[in-house]
Amino acid sequence: MVALPRLILCLATLAVSVTATSLGISPRVAHGSGRSVPRGWSLHRRADPDTVIPLKFTLTQSNLDKLDAYLLDIADPYSPNYGNHWSYAKVAETFRPSEESVAAVHSWLVNDLGIDSHKVQVNRKGDTVQLNVTVAEAEDMLGAEYYVYRSGEGGDERIGCHEGYSLPEKVSKHVDFVRPTTHLGRPRLTRRDGFVNGTPGAGQAHAGPRIKKTVEKSKLQAMGCDQAVTLDCLRDLYDFHYTPVSGKKNSVAVAEWEEEIFQQSDLNQFFAMYEPSLVGSEPIVISIENGTIAPPGDFGEATLDISLVMGLLGPKQNLTVYQVGQTSGLQQPIDELVAAFDSSFCDLDPVNQEGLTDCGNKPRANVVSISYHFEPDYIEPTITPIVQRECAEIGKLSLTGMTFVASSGDGGVGYSQAEACLVNGTLEFFVDEGSFVGQFPASCPYVTAVGATSVTPGNSVSDPETATTAFPSGGGFSNNFPRQKWQEAAVSNYIKNFAPAYGPDIYNRSGRAYPDVAANGFPTIIVEDGGTVITGGTSASAPIFAAFVAAVNDARLAHKKKPLGWINPALYSSHLAHAFNDITNGTNPGCGTDGFPAAPGWDPITGLGTVNFPKFLKALLDLP
Ligand SMILES: *[C@@H]1O[C@H](CO)[C@@H](O)[C@H](O)[C@H]1NC(C)=O
Ligand SMILES: *[C@@H]1O[C@H](CO)[C@@H](O)[C@H](O)[C@H]1NC(C)=O
Ligand SMILES: *[C@@H]1O[C@H](CO)[C@@H](O)[C@H](O)[C@H]1NC(C)=O
Ligand SMILES: *[C@@H]1O[C@H](CO)[C@@H](O)[C@H](O)[C@H]1NC(C)=O
Ligand SMILES: *[C@@H]1O[C@H](CO)[C@@H](O)[C@H](O)[C@H]1NC(C)=O
Ligand SMILES: *[C@@H]1O[C@H](CO)[C@@H](O)[C@H](O)[C@H]1NC(C)=O
Repeated sequence: MVALPRLILCLATLAVSVTATSLGISPRVAHGSGRSVPRGWSLHRRADPDTVIPLKFTLTQSNLDKLDAYLLDIADPYSPNYGNHWSYAKVAETFRPSEESVAAVHSWLVNDLGIDSHKVQVNRKGDTVQLNVTVAEAEDMLGAEYYVYRSGEGGDERIGCHEGYSLPEKVSKHVDFVRPTTHLGRPRLTRRDGFVNGTPGAGQAHAGPRIKKTVEKSKLQAMGCDQAVTLDCLRDLYDFHYTPVSGKKNSVAVAEWEEEIFQQSDLNQFFAMYEPSLVGSEPIVISIENGTIAPPGDFGEATLDISLVMGLLGPKQNLTVYQVGQTSGLQQPIDELVAAFDSSFCDLDPVNQEGLTDCGNKPRANVVSISYHFEPDYIEPTITPIVQRECAEIGKLSLTGMTFVASSGDGGVGYSQAEACLVNGTLEFFVDEGSFVGQFPASCPYVTAVGATSVTPGNSVSDPETATTAFPSGGGFSNNFPRQKWQEAAVSNYIKNFAPAYGPDIYNRSGRAYPDVAANGFPTIIVEDGGTVITGGTSASAPIFAAFVAAVNDARLAHKKKPLGWINPALYSSHLAHAFNDITNGTNPGCGTDGFPAAPGWDPITGLGTVNFPKFLKALLDLP
């Protein structure tokens, strides 16, 4: 136990109440105040003042304010540096916290508070400062009150101070987070309890198609693409007839979390029906944080994602499956994925106390498709800093040439399949009122979000598709990420000419708008657990679009060009103006409204539209 000199700590506390100028002491800055107990946890009792806690200061990254500029330099098709992706080492070096930040925190602890410098540990890379203190000492240092919290189910206990904490101004600007404080992380889950009473818990991975019906195989033959979407329907809809040529040089992946798993027998049965050349082909499973495809589990999501990407690309392109497990600790699901690609995230992660074990040791695929959502996108003190950091990390990885694709959600203008809306500032599930709520990661501007379309009943693949009606396709405007200039013209055209006259509190007109594009999302045929089923969701749309991006990457590599990387500025540019089938029919209801109507040009249900693959390929192959 570290015995901190009480006198000096009392002085530090004094600084909170005495005006800064009178003592020449830096004023304090609040890191959250009056917050409620995070979802999934309940307040148990006040923490014992003698309990020793490991306090960890995560320092601010350098140059994060320049991330957009760095990315546009290599991803804006009008930039002379288009496609000049960064090395991973350059990314790590550029964003590493400065020595000045380390010195500011160290000096406050040692010189101002009088803590023995031997007890203050700076990690090897100089991006975190750690020390062991008692709860009483932490409360003095941080002007906070510590409590013990319990999770509803697992009986987990955590220590933290949900009401917030404060730091001297001169220290605060160098610190992103102190842990343990306001962020408790997610309760440890048992399999299948992620979705409690139909409402998503805190920071959990949610996927799984909303609809699933068994269909008799004998009836499939007679069904049109309005009733049963096969690989051939998709090829015809988007004129996608591409055979990869770059082999091992190219890579594409789907990410799957926790209990969402697949079995090879389902893939074989599906391929026997629709792509016999693939029977026996296995995806390459890369386990992250001990993720495993061993049953028990749920086959819906992974089977859908894998069947579509492998099926569309055929045997000349391998598919990687990132199978993400669950660490013992506090991580958000997407943290585990990005940390596996970027070791600096392990060091910088505010909650990495109990240990991410896969840190930068897994191969980075050129394209990663994510049919999950992790957080609602609204301003909330425990959510906002987390999603902003995760989105920045996706941006940093995009600098290396990766493309992140995500489903836009199956809840219309509400969050998740539970269609949650914001009622008087609180997220309420299954309600018919409130403001629209977006979802992360689709709302992150460095992610390409994909909405869902269907062939209208009675129509064929040569007719224009409509936004899905089987479920409302997710779309809207972020509260956490402002709109960037590459989509400004497309989105403001929609707001000005087509958006319903909702009040200013219903959706955020200045936010990043999504989805960016769309692809068929219902009724998709797969083989799941031995049976042929009709399923779908934006969960299907994302991997379909990811397969198209992978095919373009394959062609670019064959032409000695770089993979696409962050693709959004190019999608909205004049180069791709004719590369999409504009979807103009349908709506995405939610929160007691009809949501948004599809319209000519970009709209917040189907984005820029679905891909016309030959034009999409040509436009992107023409880029440097
Ligand atoms: C804090 O205490 C733990 C357990 O005794 C120890 O393993 C760890 O190294 C200590 N951390 C620091 C920064 O001194
Ligand atoms: C796919 O991966 C397997 C196993 O690593 C390898 O033998 C094969 O050549 C790869 N195929 C392609 C097209 O890259
Ligand atoms: C994960 O796997 C590693 C080795 O593969 C093992 O050492 C570790 O204990 C496992 N962790 C958990 C939480 O099962
Ligand atoms: C929201 O707050 C207002 C003002 O406090 C109140 O009149 C209204 O009933 C509340 N609405 C709901 C749905 O709770
Ligand atoms: C709307 O979005 C902007 C930009 O992202 C953000 O600063 C603002 O807080 C958001 N408004 C609300 C009500 O969430
Ligand atoms: C628009 O979509 C609705 C619902 O699927 C459908 O009934 C209608 O026929 C569609 N209209 C056109 C012009 O495709």
